[in-house]
Amino acid sequence: MMMGSGQRGGFRALVALLLAFFPAFIQAQNPAASTFYLEETETQFSLNLANDSSGDVFIYFASPAYSWVGVGFGDGMKNSLMFVMYPNQKGDNVTISPRTADGHSEPSFTSKPQISLLNGTRVTDDGMFVLRARCSDCRVWQGGFLDAKNTAHPMLYAFGPGNRLQSNDVNAPLHRHIRYGKFTMNMVAATGEGAVPANTTASNGVQMVGGMTRDHDRANLAHAVMGCLALFVFWPLNVIFAGFFRNIKIHVGVSVFIMVFLVSAYGLGISTSSEYNRSKSFTSPHQILAFLTILPILLTALLPVKPVSHIHALLPRIHTPLTTLTFVFLVLTGGLGLHLYAAPTSIILAYTAISLLVFIFNVLLQTCIKRRGSAYARATLRRRLGEEDEQDLVLAQYYANRKLEDERSRSPSAASSEYHQHARSLSGGAGGAAGGSSPPGRGGMFGGGSMPGPQYLLNMHPGVPWRPGA
Ligand SMILES: *[C@@H]1O[C@H](CO)[C@@H](O)[C@H](O)[C@H]1NC(C)=O
Ligand SMILES: *[C@@H]1O[C@H](CO)[C@@H](O)[C@H](O)[C@H]1NC(C)=O
Ligand SMILES: *[C@@H]1O[C@H](CO)[C@@H](O)[C@H](O)[C@H]1NC(C)=O
Ligand SMILES: *[C@@H]1O[C@H](CO)[C@@H](O)[C@H](O)[C@H]1NC(C)=O
Ligand SMILES: *[C@@H]1O[C@H](CO)[C@@H](O)[C@H](O)[C@H]1NC(C)=O
Repeated sequence: MMMGSGQRGGFRALVALLLAFFPAFIQAQNPAASTFYLEETETQFSLNLANDSSGDVFIYFASPAYSWVGVGFGDGMKNSLMFVMYPNQKGDNVTISPRTADGHSEPSFTSKPQISLLNGTRVTDDGMFVLRARCSDCRVWQGGFLDAKNTAHPMLYAFGPGNRLQSNDVNAPLHRHIRYGKFTMNMVAATGEGAVPANTTASNGVQMVGGMTRDHDRANLAHAVMGCLALFVFWPLNVIFAGFFRNIKIHVGVSVFIMVFLVSAYGLGISTSSEYNRSKSFTSPHQILAFLTILPILLTALLPVKPVSHIHALLPRIHTPLTTLTFVFLVLTGGLGLHLYAAPTSIILAYTAISLLVFIFNVLLQTCIKRRGSAYARATLRRRLGEEDEQDLVLAQYYANRKLEDERSRSPSAASSEYHQHARSLSGGAGGAAGGSSPPGRGGMFGGGSMPGPQYLLNMHPGVPWRPGA
């Protein structure tokens, strides 16, 4: 008994010794494979090309996934076959999506390669994604093929950004890579009896081509930043300029500035739309709403311009409600953009909060301006009366009222009609309906002896010089 177990222990020790001193002994048991191993991320991509008639390709692919990780056959993304791996819906296993691209843009799923996941495919406890798979019908794809005789087959690898992506969908939308690189792989060394390559940290048959490239999605970032600056910084500032600055040219200038930002944001958006599958056909809600919003933007910008504003007295009055409508449209467009980009929830929440704050700020300010009249409108009124400051205005009104009362007492009907006409012509310039909102019976602005009331100023828009006698 004692001797038997001792003998067995000795045998085990001998085997352990052999394994330790002759790693080649184990290697011989492993299937032929070429291995790409990337130290920085502990990413291993090993390939085995079955030398039988099946044409099967066996893959061992292990990596932290970030949001996704991909390896492809080809010199560039265009016409390459790529294996993109990301966590499944539950996050407890992997989704593998073979994809092809028709340019340097988001690759689309291709259903041709038949991938069977084999046992051992899993997410390890420390978050490594492990794929063990057999791929049939993998050697030829639209636009390219795997050259089994090539000892330096061009290959690509790429990592997605650290965004959350969990999906069972092989069509799942991907964020643009944050790092990528190229290497070559020896396909002859990868050829042998078909089997899944083993777990290893040793590269085999692989040459790196250049280093890992950091990538930035600058155009999309600029698209978002310009849109947000226009909406959340310059827009509320412009409401202030419109309401509280006498010089209307500042409001016009800032409006032009905002337009430049919006046009740039649109331009950048259109230029990057081909980058993603989900945006290249301009059918996403974000893009559709963005195009619809061009109409209120144009109306907001063009209605206060002189020849247009004179077409109908109502036109200048809808400028303020129109700006609010345009703002809401643009905010919704931005929100849909974040959704399209699959932005993190934190960013969407921050965006929603800022939108609400700026919206409330704008509306409060606009209400306040409506009540007291914009600085420009009041300055214009003073100029009209030929006076310089507020005090003179009060005086002027005082005398006007005196004169009116005098004339009224002399010949009530004639005087009153004359002055009401005058009052109507003043207030009617910016808003033709003013005569209705300040009825002659209540004295308009001159007859009643009071300061111009809200009804009067309400009808004057800052951006629109009024015409007498409208
Ligand atoms: C992951 O998927 C593989 C292949 O479908 C399967 O063999 C394995 O059991 C799965 N693991 C878990 C934890 O679901
Ligand atoms: C997969 O299953 C086979 C038997 O079906 C077994 O020999 C092999 O060790 C398993 N591989 C892994 C990685 O679990
Ligand atoms: C396939 O490769 C294995 C070695 O990996 C070799 O033993 C076998 O003979 C080869 N089969 C063919 C058909 O070439
Ligand atoms: C690879 O093998 C090593 C031991 O050789 C082990 O520690 C590691 O967890 C394995 N990795 C995976 C992804 O299975
Ligand atoms: C991507 O585009 C292809 C056609 O190019 C289409 O078949 C596929 O459904 C698209 N995927 C998504 C997620 O839009």
